[in-house]
Amino acid sequence: MKFGYFDDKSREYVITTPQTPYPWINYLGNGDFFSIISNTSGGYSFYRDARLRRITRYRYNNIPLDSNGKYFYIRDEEVLWSPSWKPAKTPLDKYECRHGLGYSKFLGEKNKCRAEVTCFVPDEVNAEIQILKLENLSDKTKTLKIHSFVEWCLWNALEDTTNFQRNFSTGQVEIEGSTLYHKTEFRERRNHYAFYHVNTALKGYDTDREKFLGLYNGLEAPDAVINQTAYNTEAHGWSPIASHFIEVTLKPGEHKELVFVLGYVEVPDKDKFVTNQVINKAPAKSIIEKFDSPAKAYASLQLVVNKWTTLLSAYQTTTPDDKFNRVVNIWNQYQCVITYFFSRSASYFESGIGRGMGFRDSNQDLLGFVHIMPHLAKQRIIDIASTQFEDGGAYHQYQPLTKRGNSDIGGNFNDDPLWLIAAVSAYIKETGDTSILDESVPFDNNEKNKASLFEHLKRSFDHVINNLGPHKLPLIGRADWNDCLNLNCFSNNPDESFQITENKSGGAAESVFIAGMFVKYGKEYAEICQFIKNTKEAQRAEIHVNEMVNAINKHGWDGEWFLRAYDFFGNKIGSHTCEEAKIFIEPQGFCIMAGLGLEDGRANTTLESVHKYLACEHGIVLNYPAFTRYHIEYGEISSYPQGYKENAGVFCHNNPWVIIAETQNGNGDRAYDYFTRISPAHTEDKSELHKTEPYVFAQMIAGKEAFKPGEAKNSWLTGAAAWTFVAASQHILGVRPGLNGLIVDPCIPKQWKEISVTRRFRNAVYNIKVHNPDGKSRGISEMTVDGTLIKGNELPIFNDNNIHEIEITL
Ligand code: BGC
Ligand code: NOJ
Repeated sequence: MKFGYFDDKSREYVITTPQTPYPWINYLGNGDFFSIISNTSGGYSFYRDARLRRITRYRYNNIPLDSNGKYFYIRDEEVLWSPSWKPAKTPLDKYECRHGLGYSKFLGEKNKCRAEVTCFVPDEVNAEIQILKLENLSDKTKTLKIHSFVEWCLWNALEDTTNFQRNFSTGQVEIEGSTLYHKTEFRERRNHYAFYHVNTALKGYDTDREKFLGLYNGLEAPDAVINQTAYNTEAHGWSPIASHFIEVTLKPGEHKELVFVLGYVEVPDKDKFVTNQVINKAPAKSIIEKFDSPAKAYASLQLVVNKWTTLLSAYQTTTPDDKFNRVVNIWNQYQCVITYFFSRSASYFESGIGRGMGFRDSNQDLLGFVHIMPHLAKQRIIDIASTQFEDGGAYHQYQPLTKRGNSDIGGNFNDDPLWLIAAVSAYIKETGDTSILDESVPFDNNEKNKASLFEHLKRSFDHVINNLGPHKLPLIGRADWNDCLNLNCFSNNPDESFQITENKSGGAAESVFIAGMFVKYGKEYAEICQFIKNTKEAQRAEIHVNEMVNAINKHGWDGEWFLRAYDFFGNKIGSHTCEEAKIFIEPQGFCIMAGLGLEDGRANTTLESVHKYLACEHGIVLNYPAFTRYHIEYGEISSYPQGYKENAGVFCHNNPWVIIAETQNGNGDRAYDYFTRISPAHTEDKSELHKTEPYVFAQMIAGKEAFKPGEAKNSWLTGAAAWTFVAASQHILGVRPGLNGLIVDPCIPKQWKEISVTRRFRNAVYNIKVHNPDGKSRGISEMTVDGTLIKGNELPIFNDNNIHEIEITL
């Protein structure tokens, strides 16, 4: 069952009913100012940091769901309605929500009146713009009474939901003309305020929530709206809001457009006030001026649309599968950009107050983003590396506003350091810019203690070899990629965090997953060394990589698949000898990606085991069988009910590892098949079961042993975004940057007769056409570049701002 459809031409998902199985959201933003917006206009805005600079209020996990947003009420004689259905919830004659790239549009019709609300965040200012277009479809003149509504957050979102004894006394506003200002705490340590403006004269306004709403009313029927008035209130303390009250008269067939601006400004300390208590409004006015007409607003929206066209043009494909095309060309890349900006901070599942930027997460996010905005990727790498410890270890998270490591969580997640190599390697392959390796980068943000980025990579590499266990496999520390495999934790106290509790010392728990990672990224490190002609270091790295390969072969192979780990006591995890969780997904994907078992058939055996035990119709589960009881020696993983999250859920993040492994093993049909099991467009028909947005990947889909298999959670902010893009673009379609050129090595379903890829790479455009007359999956038999035959599968670096035509026959 579907609740909308893809409009590929406009790059929109069109939702045709407000009652989706879960709020389906979109992100509006410019890198600094962001809004999250649902298909009923729920959501909130913030500046840079969803915890410290929250601009409007949202109530997570509230009832009814998705409460609070930026709302409009329209009173048309006896009918009261909202163009986004909520909050008035009056049944509409027509409803449509179009989530596009960087904007969302709501279209509501009621009583022969049409309202269209277009919301976006322009690049040029820190504001959300809402264009409200009202049209009279009837043959009588209509006088509409409009109320707008936003509720301010008192900036710190955590304090805002907890510290009421203070909050209820601090709120302050100012009102001037059609602009309602929110200035709580501006008089003391803050140098920022927010405002909500509309480009028309007001009939009234409200800034006091209780008066606007009536103490015991909900947002569906505020007193002011019901009474068709405004009380012109000035909030002091309690909960400041901003609501404009406007009257619009429309002749039959006539339409009018209003432009609302919800803005955020920072004012230098010396310029904060005009007079005592009166804030300096000049910076707000300069934003308002830029959007004082619908024409200006639409022109700015067009820039957002154009921006996305340019961004996405870095990688476009045509295959026989439209669903695959729309995921790769539009939505997956869009999700990669959003995930890159937000890490795991603010979605409908991440409340924006908890987690900072993950060291491993941000490095992986970069893999799906670097081709789109390489200059931002460079800065991100430096920011991340600046939090690294001298011994190569890393804070598990850092805070986006301060860019400092988060000492509450600390380090010892022993996979973390290697992800830095992954990111840098991807960056250099994309750009050829090895100068990044010479950047001087601090350890632990200490400016007095710096080393080259290359040295940071070396420390990452060495961190693994300096932390090997009894089987010469890497020690796992607090956890590896799987945050919930906490092998040194042993927690029987529900009040402690699995991730930061390390209450048993002397253990030697080892991770075969990190071992596989080390082989993969250790090789990439050696390649980088070779590339910059540091042969000695390359050779040293290769020796360690080979030793790790030996260790995996000796102690990491279980007979039909790769082992997962050794626990604190040296017992095997993820072995056929285990009582539960005999096989895990992570080492299977990663060891094969690292090249293990490809020559001796073990890759094949492994992938058959994955197919047999882990794959199900909803994707590939993380482990099988699921844990049915709490195993104290394993940590959080067995705390989840079976089939959910890390306990045998389909963790979409690591499905692509198996997809990539399948392509490396030459099985294009299966790689594609696995892709379609988790891909949003391919699961659109199951939206009712799936629940989350059919245009983005979710972190987790309940696995085959779950109570409700197929139900997804945690959409949007997940490593699944970057990795599925890598799997589809670089491995199924097979177009991937290398250090010396653009590698083309498709591994496609046999029935695909022709595909094409347009790839922007190092200042040139590669138009690649692949013909598959014999129904193969993989293997190039002939390749021409601009008409000339070339050998191998690597395209030269042209760097000539030209378009090049590549013809390939499999
Ligand atoms: C989740 C993980 C997450 C971790 C760290 C766990 O509860 O299952 O997916 O990475 O918390 O916040
Ligand atoms: C989500 C975390 O953000 C990510 O870092 C981790 O790898 C997965 N959960 C698996 O535990």
